Amino acid sequence: MSTTRKIAINTGGGDAPGLNAVIRAAALSAINRGWEAYGIHRAYAGLLGEDEIVPLTRDAVRGITHLGGTILGTTTHGNPFAWPVKQPDGTTRRVDRSDELMAAFQRHGFDALIAIGGDGSLRIANELSQKGMPIVGVPKTIDNDIEGTQLTFGFLTAVYVATDAIDRLHSTAQAHERVMIVEVMGRDTGWIALFSGVAGTADVILIPEIPYRIERVCEKVMERERMGRHFTIMVAAEGAYPVGGEPVYEDREKRRLGGICEVLAQQISETTGKETRALALRHLQRGGSPISYDRLIALRFGAAAVECVAKGELGCMVALDPPDVRAIPLAEAVSRQKRVPVDGDVVATARALGMSFGD
Ligand code: F6P
Repeated sequence: MSTTRKIAINTGGGDAPGLNAVIRAAALSAINRGWEAYGIHRAYAGLLGEDEIVPLTRDAVRGITHLGGTILGTTTHGNPFAWPVKQPDGTTRRVDRSDELMAAFQRHGFDALIAIGGDGSLRIANELSQKGMPIVGVPKTIDNDIEGTQLTFGFLTAVYVATDAIDRLHSTAQAHERVMIVEVMGRDTGWIALFSGVAGTADVILIPEIPYRIERVCEKVMERERMGRHFTIMVAAEGAYPVGGEPVYEDREKRRLGGICEVLAQQISETTGKETRALALRHLQRGGSPISYDRLIALRFGAAAVECVAKGELGCMVALDPPDVRAIPLAEAVSRQKRVPVDGDVVATARALGMSFGD
């Protein structure tokens, strides 16, 4: 039997709906075993003296299951192996603070860390685990691009938001006989675009896994014109790109994607002569309450992570493997990105329904 008594929980990387549900489930599962739970603020900053460590009591985690964001705060600039330190000249130097972090973790007497994060945070968790930190990862991201888990929490909420937007755009597209392009997130994967596009009955879905040809996209618009359907709804993943081309970056240096819907709108209106409008949903997809299934996954993940700690199963990530939640090695989870299978049944369903991928 494990002698664990004190666990820490943190949230790293971009937020996703459901983070607070994981925090609550992990904290309560620990408390109900007679353990103590603590929250490290802003990923690892709380352990590096740049933020707080707070006790996660019953009161602290009360009434948070349905809340978006994270009560612990998060950052995309908190890698302890490459910690950003501002220099007097305004530049940033990267410093390895992982030894300091390990020492702080021990000094606080933590027996395990539950690290809730996406691919970047899980990679950090894997490195810390290799350094000897007792750690369990929980897969979070609206992108759904983590290997080894059928779903990450937050993804279905993003799909819901995108589908709702597509539904709403149908009536205005039809009224004005326009082409409407919705840009959704997902980084280098097309999970959100595919799921929301199929659920929202889009006419064209563009995803990074299937590079498109703009001529084929325009042909679909014109084909609909000929059929008397004078409007077209398109969903473009932010990371989609044309055959032989590359994705559109909002900030190329920082590799921040964004802007494909505007580029497509111009090309499509020039080629087809159709009035075209573009809408990027951006961070709307990450904000607000998690839908019920995301809450459920998040709560299951939080409880399962504590169960792993209790069993001494460390260096792992909890993963949804229906009908169960199981643990897989962190190294396996970060070994590659989970991309949309182009020969999978959702793509096949879209094609069967006459949707175009622009290929
Ligand atoms: O990984 C989640 C995600 O929302 C991606 O879909 C998107 O490309 C990125 O984060 C946006 O990051 P930021 O919040 O830094 O703008």
